[in-house]
Amino acid sequence: MSTLEGRRIIVTAGPTIEPIDPVRFLSNRSSGKQGYLIAEALAARGADVLLVSGPTCLACPDCVDRVDVETARDMLAAVETGLPADAFIAVAAVADWRPAERHDQKTEKSAHTASLQLVENPDILKTIAGHRRQRPSLVIGFAAETHDVLDRARAKRLRKGCDWIVANDVSGDVMGGDENAAWLITGNNETHWPRAPKQTLAENLAAAMDDHFATS
Ligand code: C5P
Repeated sequence: MSTLEGRRIIVTAGPTIEPIDPVRFLSNRSSGKQGYLIAEALAARGADVLLVSGPTCLACPDCVDRVDVETARDMLAAVETGLPADAFIAVAAVADWRPAERHDQKTEKSAHTASLQLVENPDILKTIAGHRRQRPSLVIGFAAETHDVLDRARAKRLRKGCDWIVANDVSGDVMGGDENAAWLITGNNETHWPRAPKQTLAENLAAAMDDHFATS
């Protein structure tokens, strides 16, 4: 039997979108595939999975509860509402910035200045990793890097206060593609997962979590 059976696990996935006005927004190229496959792999091991998803074209995996959100602030609120949890996995590509102002009506070309003022979004991973009352016992972040992958990911693990980081090299066609190569950095170990379908990475991560809960 899996040690994930009945464990509550919250996963974020996909991009966030940050509205400028009713028809325009800022976002990124995340497809959500990796997060959805992780949710599916955890549910297959019997976990009680809450998937907090930004806009994607993907169907909700079987036996997974999904909450749909658009903005980073809504994503954080949905994750906090989903607590307490045994584990939190931040796979979403959260927009770091949002427009300072959200217009209720479509802005006219003539009303535009050449610049858009941005303000920083909350860091969901850092917030949940630093949660005083309801920190999940295992908090996992993702680090998408185009260079110095390991060094940058090790530093990110400490900066975010999470337990594990899955570091992937996104210099190629990973974002939106079907394959991924990654390192799992746990603090005690660094394991390389060679390029493989995203489903394999999802299963590797679920297996590592299963082992973790078996010994903790
Ligand atoms: O800082 P960076 O965006 O590279 O960190 C990536 C990790 O942090 C991912 O796990 C991502 O889901 C999470 N993150 C977050 N909230 C943000 C930015 C990133 O949860 N505002």
